[in-house]
Amino acid sequence: MAFDRRNFADIIAQFTVDAEHLREVAADFRHDMRLGLAGSPDSSLRMLPSYLGLPTGEERGDYLALDFGGTNVRVLLYRLEGSGRYEVLSHVAKPLKVSGDYDYVGGEATAEQLFDFLAGLVDEAVGGDQKTPYLLGHTFSFPSAQTNINDARLIIWTKEFAVQGVEGAVVNDLLKEALVRRGLANVTPNAVINDTVAVLLSAAYINGDTQIGAIYATGHNTCYLEPYAGGAQQPMILNMESGGFQKLTPNRFDIALDAASEKPGEQRLEKMVGGRYMGTLFDMALAELLGEQGRLYGFTSVDISRILEDQSECADCASGVVEMMTGRRLSEEDAPRVRELAHAIVVRSVRLMTATFAGTMWQVAGAGKIRRQHIAVDGSVYEKMPHVTENIMRAFSELLGEDAALVDTLLAGGGSGLGAALAAAMTAHEAQG
Ligand code: GLC
Repeated sequence: MAFDRRNFADIIAQFTVDAEHLREVAADFRHDMRLGLAGSPDSSLRMLPSYLGLPTGEERGDYLALDFGGTNVRVLLYRLEGSGRYEVLSHVAKPLKVSGDYDYVGGEATAEQLFDFLAGLVDEAVGGDQKTPYLLGHTFSFPSAQTNINDARLIIWTKEFAVQGVEGAVVNDLLKEALVRRGLANVTPNAVINDTVAVLLSAAYINGDTQIGAIYATGHNTCYLEPYAGGAQQPMILNMESGGFQKLTPNRFDIALDAASEKPGEQRLEKMVGGRYMGTLFDMALAELLGEQGRLYGFTSVDISRILEDQSECADCASGVVEMMTGRRLSEEDAPRVRELAHAIVVRSVRLMTATFAGTMWQVAGAGKIRRQHIAVDGSVYEKMPHVTENIMRAFSELLGEDAALVDTLLAGGGSGLGAALAAAMTAHEAQG
């Protein structure tokens, strides 16, 4: 069947967030934050306490960082030098899944296998040293319930992870046991943080003026420094698990994607925003347009970014990517349309995320004015996807008017690792005392 041009306009409309809807999302997000802070079960935001405020910038010493939660696991040894400076003394990284070899993402793997794999990486990062005492900060990028900085219990897997025996468990207990099995009793995990928290810590260490941290990668989530204005409580970073925000208007593709996911009904914002899902949304919409509804071609966010990198009028390269994945050659008129579909999916993702940033700033500002600030963001989609930064700025000016000039986003590259080392440093006195 030829390209379905009549359906095309409707599909683009399905992925369009107009100015009014954008404002609604920002306002609803703020409302959910308020409900969440008040402990209401009606909030779709978890607002999880991190038991950390911001670093002073003067943290010093050598700390291990384990960064777990995306496609790759990394272990790094950092030397923090204070004044926002640091050095990376060693760095090892491995994918969590190698086709035909191993898979520590899916439901076949057990907690023990996964954590033995992580302990193996720690072993490599310290070069087999079983003597020198090390403190280790653990960036564990999933919703976890904490009662202090070191005990984090996985509430529920997200991002299509499904390893058995981890949900409900205290993750650093699993890690400690695996380290001991490996002969690494000299490595003491002393802090667990979410990757968003790590990003915020790292940006605050280097730049100051940062109270919001976000990940825009496989998954999406945001944390912020809750000032607890007027109360007796100290400011604390809260992991909102904003990927779980629910007050949205899913289209038919979102609904189908959710139904086929590991955790239907969960992570509705993340499924509209995160890189893990963009390719699938594109797949489903393209299959309709090509008259092959139900077929999955296997597009990923990397393919989407290659399609959008082609800025030529005829979208020749974009068309090449589509042909390779679908086996279908697009006509000259239809190639730019398919690129427009990719563009619409990405722009919707950016606009929804930006609305949540605005909602967060409104909530923190309360009756006062939004303060001048950076929002720290890390992740491959933020870093590599075309059109992201300009659309963040555009959405900010629609939402904040003149105040948009006070706010920008900055890349906190490698923040997940550095933040873990900072968390270990900020907690060091507790481990020793
Ligand atoms: C998912 C996780 C969240 C994490 C985010 C980015 O949303 O639930 O904890 O911060 O992915 O990695």
